Amino acid sequence: MENMYKIQKLTVVGGGSTYTPELLSGFIEHREKLAVDRISLFDINRERLETVGGLVSRMLQRAELDTRLELTQNRTGALEGADFIVSQIRVGLMPARILDERIPFSHGVLGQETVGAGGLFNAFRTIPVSLEIAREAARYAPDAWYLNFTNPSGIITEALLNHSELKRVAGLCNVPINAQRAVAELLNVPSQKVWLDWIGLNHLGWIRGIYVDGRDRLPEVIERLSQQLSDEASERFPFESRLLHDLGLLPTYYLRYYYATQNAISEVQKAGKTRGEVVLDIERDLLGRYADPNQVIKPEELKQRGGAYYSEAAIRLILSLLSDRRDVQILITRNNGAIQGLPDHVSVEVPSIVGAHGISPLSCGKPPAQVKHLLESVKASESLAVEAGVSGSRRKAVMALVANPLVPGFELAERLTDELLEAHRRYLPQFFSSEE
Ligand code: G6P
Repeated sequence: MENMYKIQKLTVVGGGSTYTPELLSGFIEHREKLAVDRISLFDINRERLETVGGLVSRMLQRAELDTRLELTQNRTGALEGADFIVSQIRVGLMPARILDERIPFSHGVLGQETVGAGGLFNAFRTIPVSLEIAREAARYAPDAWYLNFTNPSGIITEALLNHSELKRVAGLCNVPINAQRAVAELLNVPSQKVWLDWIGLNHLGWIRGIYVDGRDRLPEVIERLSQQLSDEASERFPFESRLLHDLGLLPTYYLRYYYATQNAISEVQKAGKTRGEVVLDIERDLLGRYADPNQVIKPEELKQRGGAYYSEAAIRLILSLLSDRRDVQILITRNNGAIQGLPDHVSVEVPSIVGAHGISPLSCGKPPAQVKHLLESVKASESLAVEAGVSGSRRKAVMALVANPLVPGFELAERLTDELLEAHRRYLPQFFSSEE
């Protein structure tokens, strides 16, 4: 029989998120390996907390788990004594995301929640709140692992790594695990057998090799994706076959915003709705279902959200930390020399060894020449965004936009900065009290 691992207290910041039942279903599924004594869901929105908490409580009851569930609006109380803290907040909720999308679109450039100008403004709103949570976490749960799902995950993780007292931080995303699953399905092998040689940043990842039983099957995957043999895989890797062949690498999903920017813009124009506007409807429907006392499992409709299955990434990480598994997972962590040419202190998304010691990124060497410039520009923009978000300097915010490949030119960077600053004014106090 396998060992059983125990968590005394798990805290979810942003517990009222419609994703919380996804996380909980992961714990229920892995009950034979992982027991949680107490789960504390914290949220500033009481109504959401009660609705989501209601479903979670029914899920636990149905699973006959004796995990104690606590719904709270007291943040320090929620954090105190936690072994694991999962952060999944969205400052300003969907209406703020929609502005991040709509305002850039109104200037003919891409609007998205994690990349381009929208992603940067999402970071500006989220950095101060994340750092405040981190300050309390470091004080009330100094030994806890802080798992950041909060978007834009690469930028927020970099802020936490460099501007907080937290000792144990990991940035997480479901893109790597979904890519692994899609590739496994395409090759018709179990997903544990697939080893992805991955290099990049969060939402900017390239696959340099796909190893199955020691053999690199990347060329075959590129060939098959070019013929669009699998729906799941072509959805995850929506790229022109010429691009795949010329790059000789497999770009992951979010790279479509850089390699096919105009397509992404046209899609939204054609649909007449941004993704945030679509998600607003999905969330309304989900919350209605969560409120139904007969609903006792996560509803199927949750699959319409991009974060479906993210619990797998969280549980895999938690189990490796607890069991000293020393396996390799693709995580967002401090570079520490993993990608040559990038500073040590920045966040990167790379294969890392995970065990009781923590997270050690594997050496990736130099980025391939054909992606180096994009990788470095996006990283420069992200690091400037951390500085801007922390300091509240408009000048640094403009520089973060200028450095971003999805914002063409200084003039537009200034215009977008001023418009987005004004639109999000109530969530950006640091920019309105600063001297600059
Ligand atoms: C994926 C990404 C997440 C992102 C989500 C968006 O899971 O990895 O970072 O938040 O998709 O999904 P949504 O349903 O909100 O568009």
